[in-house]
Amino acid sequence: MLDTKDILMILHPAIAVAFVFPIIGIVCNFAWQTRQRRLTLARKEKSKIPPVVGKEHVQIGKWLTGAVVASALLPLMIVLWLEKNNIFTAATWQEKGGLIAFQMVLAALTIASLVFLFQATEKLWRGTFATLAGMGLVILGCQEGIFRRENEWFVSHFFYGTAVALLMIFSVAVLPEIYRDRSQKWRKAHALLNAFATILFIGQGITGARDLLEIPLSWQKPFVYGQCNYETKVCAAAESRLKAPFLAQSSTTGSMTDQQ
Ligand code: HEM
Ligand code: HEM
Repeated sequence: MLDTKDILMILHPAIAVAFVFPIIGIVCNFAWQTRQRRLTLARKEKSKIPPVVGKEHVQIGKWLTGAVVASALLPLMIVLWLEKNNIFTAATWQEKGGLIAFQMVLAALTIASLVFLFQATEKLWRGTFATLAGMGLVILGCQEGIFRRENEWFVSHFFYGTAVALLMIFSVAVLPEIYRDRSQKWRKAHALLNAFATILFIGQGITGARDLLEIPLSWQKPFVYGQCNYETKVCAAAESRLKAPFLAQSSTTGSMTDQQ
């Protein structure tokens, strides 16, 4: 059975796989139908696709935005408030109370800004709340303790995740412009940007699965982080065994070290 810490750590991947990715599929399906219907009508032909697909795309698109932002916030909160600093201990509040309070206010402001963005109709307020929600997410992601994989940013789960969350927020912010703009520029920009977002979502699935493979269980962390070198991909115990191969032959235990 998993420890509580590990259960909390798989909460985010589990929610992403079970809820967020199915919503992505639904949104993409409606997006495709919306486009096909519009192109068919533009050719002055009759479309079998019902007119409601555009509305459905937008409605579920809003759910997707909420789900993706929540998906990005959840692991940040777990890492910052349980893994890096455990907020359920008095020592954390004594040593880093100010920082934790700042992060909590920031997270609350980010969520509030997103809620207000969904309500806002005026351009100015949509822009303001979208900027605030996006800024909150980025500042939380910049906190110490978040693993951003900066040395391999092009395959970073953090950067992909932040980028898709920002693209979803942007889609909600420009929603009325897509309908209003007769030149279809906003519509084309939206379709293009979100085609890119879809590629990033696929990247999120791949990089997330890789991260699950790379992160050890909480009870294995002291050993793996203490003895294993992620650069050379060798663990200390295995290294010493390589130097004395007869030990490896006589060893019959199936420990983690044997698998490294
Ligand atoms: C994976 C995410 C998404 C993809 C791939 C996507 C793609 C598309 C595509 C291809 C279209 C049709 C463009 C055309 O007519 O040529 C469209 C329309 C539209 N999308 Fe998205 N979109 C996504 C998410 C969102 C989100 C989150 C929102 C905002 C809530 C949104 C709002 C709209 C609106 C307002 C339209 C116009 C609908 C209509 O004509 O009735 N989309 N989208
Ligand atoms: C909508 C899709 C997703 C978004 C927006 C997202 C976003 C994030 C963000 C912002 C982080 C924190 C930065 C980091 O530690 O890398 C994170 C962590 C993580 N995500 Fe995702 N993610 C998504 C999907 C997935 C999926 C599908 C999986 C696995 C199947 C996954 C597995 C993980 C893991 C293992 C971590 C590491 C937690 C830690 O640092 O200890 N994610 N995700």
